[in-house]
Amino acid sequence: MEFPVKTDAPARQRTECAILPLFDDGRLVGATKDFDRAARGAIAKLVRAGDASARLGTVTIVHRTQGTAAARWALVGCGKRSELNLKRLTTALAAAVSALRMSVKEATSFLGYDAGGLAPADTARHSVETARTAVYRFDELKSRTDPPSRLARLALAYPRGTNAASIRTGIKLGEAIADGSDLARSLGNRPPNVCTPSHLAEAARDIAKRFARMEVKVLDEADMRRLGMGALLSVTQGAEEPPRLIVLHYRGAAKQAPIALCGKGVTFDTGGISIKPAAKMDEMKFDMCGAGSVLGAMTAIGELQPGLNVVGVIPACENMPGGRATRPGDIVKSLSGQTVEIINTDAEGRLILCDAITYAKRFKPSCIVDIATLTGACVVALGHVYTGLFSNDEPLAKALLAASDRSLDLAWRMPVHDEYGDTLRSNFADFANSGTRDGGASIGANFLSRFVDGVPWAHLDIAGVAWRANANKGATGRPVPMLVDFLLNAAQ
Ligand code: BES
Ligand code: MN
Ligand code: ZN
Repeated sequence: MEFPVKTDAPARQRTECAILPLFDDGRLVGATKDFDRAARGAIAKLVRAGDASARLGTVTIVHRTQGTAAARWALVGCGKRSELNLKRLTTALAAAVSALRMSVKEATSFLGYDAGGLAPADTARHSVETARTAVYRFDELKSRTDPPSRLARLALAYPRGTNAASIRTGIKLGEAIADGSDLARSLGNRPPNVCTPSHLAEAARDIAKRFARMEVKVLDEADMRRLGMGALLSVTQGAEEPPRLIVLHYRGAAKQAPIALCGKGVTFDTGGISIKPAAKMDEMKFDMCGAGSVLGAMTAIGELQPGLNVVGVIPACENMPGGRATRPGDIVKSLSGQTVEIINTDAEGRLILCDAITYAKRFKPSCIVDIATLTGACVVALGHVYTGLFSNDEPLAKALLAASDRSLDLAWRMPVHDEYGDTLRSNFADFANSGTRDGGASIGANFLSRFVDGVPWAHLDIAGVAWRANANKGATGRPVPMLVDFLLNAAQ
């Protein structure tokens, strides 16, 4: 999809469809007013007659556009003018793009034209992300696909004199985030017989091939054994599908400690011998969405080539039951040397991540951020709205929350405390991999914290936000926007 910038007089712009905001005070301003004037009050008349609603997300398509160079108008409800913000602007644009995607090849959005105080670079960035998300479909495995979206070009209109360079920067950022989110979504949506650990490794190789300053290394099971990754190996040992440890290194700065991203890549989580109930088990193909978000973020970084170093470490395997599978009660030795009693084989994410975190420390990172669909408890706590953010480091937590804010990719700080580790006590090993149900998200975080020793670390539990269930079932691509924003701001 293309996103040209337009700064001509609104009503004179030739377009298949002009996307115009309506506010619930009934007053027409900015581009909408310009169109109304050119059309001799036709828009005001529609609004007065009650034919075009200003309710947020309502779209009214109009073909009688006399006096203006647009073939159609899409009048989009934006609610209360004083409450317009980036989030509401994206809700309005998403509704417009969804309404238009099958009918027009090209449209022009005026939603950022007069968006009371919102920076053009921000409205441009989020318009791009929103439009790309609205047209995304996953149909690569359907033999009879729905016709593809026709919308190939969305022009973004701003008043003459708006700083065009900053708008273009916003668009570039939006496109990079959208490309990363698309990859994360598609990896997540692919079935577990396609999106295997080797498939994730191929995706990483592809990124390394496509972009400058990007290198990949893939470790196999023998490498893991040689290194002593007993925790990771214990998870994969019930599976026939071979595991991979993927290391994707972006070098955009000389002599600077890298930021390490560790993404949980369980390509299917049955629970192992502590097997999960059958209902909704198919959704455990999404248990690699942490890994997908790292590959998505690295894609965006590869496109943007910022001046910083990032290393992505992705432990990828299946969690299967079987004659060779780990038994509850087994004790394994992690790469860190610490021993773990595996009380519940379904608490496997922390087992693969703890070895990945220990491995990531080899790169002497300035910080480690892990991303994982780690606990059902986090879904209970935050629902499907916020990512759970756990951290041992105030500046890092603040930087991630600020990135979350700017990228409209919500995250909420959750507690980290040694006392959450009390239930991980084991009589037989250094500690156990699972404790009580209560406070499960923080207990998971506590387990991981035992492997970071001293490195600034944050853990993003994305169990509630990485995918949607029900009618719109599918991966969301979150938290790629937050990660990319965080990395770019670390570069500055
Ligand atoms: N992948 C799951 C977490 C999960 C469950 C994410 C449901 C999204 C929806 C994880 O591996 C898991 O099974 N966690 C256990 C941990 C427990 C055994 C300590 C859980 O949350 O039940
Ligand atoms: Mn599990
Ligand atoms: Zn899992």
